[in-house]
Amino acid sequence: MQRENWASRLGFMLAAMGSAVGLGNIWRFSYVAGENGGGAFLIIYLASILIIGIPLLLTEVSIGRKAQSDVVGSYQTLAPKQPWFLAGFLGVGSAFLILSFYSVVAGWALYYLWEYITGSLSIEPTEGYGAAFETFISTTYQPLFWHGLFMFITIFVVLAGVKQGIELANKIFMPILAILLLILAGYSLTLDGAMEGVRFLFTPDWSVLSDPSVYIAALGQAFFSLSLGVGTMMTYGSYLSKEHRLPSATVGIGIMDTLFAVISGIVIFPAVFAFNIEPSSGPPLVFITLPDIFSQMPFGGLVGILFFLALSLAAISSSISILEVPVAYLVRVTKWSRKKASVLSGLIMFILGIAVSLGMGKWKDITPIGKRNIMDSMDYIASNIFLPIGGLVMAAFAGWYFTKKQALDATDLKDSPLGNFWLFIIRFVAPIIIIVIFINGIFFS
Ligand code: PHE
Repeated sequence: MQRENWASRLGFMLAAMGSAVGLGNIWRFSYVAGENGGGAFLIIYLASILIIGIPLLLTEVSIGRKAQSDVVGSYQTLAPKQPWFLAGFLGVGSAFLILSFYSVVAGWALYYLWEYITGSLSIEPTEGYGAAFETFISTTYQPLFWHGLFMFITIFVVLAGVKQGIELANKIFMPILAILLLILAGYSLTLDGAMEGVRFLFTPDWSVLSDPSVYIAALGQAFFSLSLGVGTMMTYGSYLSKEHRLPSATVGIGIMDTLFAVISGIVIFPAVFAFNIEPSSGPPLVFITLPDIFSQMPFGGLVGILFFLALSLAAISSSISILEVPVAYLVRVTKWSRKKASVLSGLIMFILGIAVSLGMGKWKDITPIGKRNIMDSMDYIASNIFLPIGGLVMAAFAGWYFTKKQALDATDLKDSPLGNFWLFIIRFVAPIIIIVIFINGIFFS
């Protein structure tokens, strides 16, 4: 079957940015930063993006474009009969793990959107936003409905093939999300006690740097947020033709993604302190702080609608990119139709997600690998372990398996002074840092 291609470089940029910008920037970034001390975490996170994230993003996209295949097939095409493709399967596994909890959280966002549309969230519930949210996620059926709806939408978009609809939606809603975040950041900064939040985010408390788990968390967040190490960017890269230049595109994606995260931190943390919420409250953080802010604002109900609409769309443009990883693989290998591959993979993710959702209530005592709940366990394994390993293999592949000429060719860095710099990073710097953070984080925390 003829493989599809992006219509234009802009199409690729939008899809890749759509993939990168999602719940990771707002929901995950803020609670992980909150749990890991704020300012010092932010610095390690930014360093991870710059030193490891962006160079690896370029690497991942370039491998896909060179091979013109899915995450398993790319390794097989470029290194036939060698074990590199096993990393492709790791990526497919990460996609299943991530989307099954991502969809549950995106379901919460859809539910909030609905509740703002009907007006029920515009006024603070008597028990407060925090307790109302906890009650909602710990019930059995309601969150499953929203999780199922989100998965249904994701499958629907992916089976439709290359995405006129979502590309267009992204073009409209990403700017709305950005503008809303900026307005909210401005508003949040006027809250009483806002400066404490700003200080929390921007004044590093160096003492947390002695905790190895902070580094693992920052590295995992960088991978998650840039959609790295799953094979998403490899798959998206495989729909690019050779004439597009990659380095500027990947730097652009990295900067955009980081801006969204930092700005959402400026929205969330002032509110955290103004409303006396614990910065380390974990995954519920944004679902409590944002409604608190909205309820104080003029037209807060309307802002709530717009915000959760934009957030849901940002989540969809990311979730489709995750589902595309197994779908691209299955369509090639099994010769199934796109439809069949999307529905089947999506269904499995939905079922896995049921466990994640129940883990917030009925099954809350199930805590594999000692994390808070099923979701945190899956997230930890995928984001903090699988994705960095995926990234490590990509770096080794481009840095050591490719000849220098092949590597520079693949990334369009042949005639650029940055070529040697990039090569040095993916050959030495990134792998060493990832390995050190790993050993430290896994054995000493
Ligand atoms: N980067 C996405 C987000 O921030 C999530 C994602 C992770 C997408 C891994 C693809 C692959 O929401």
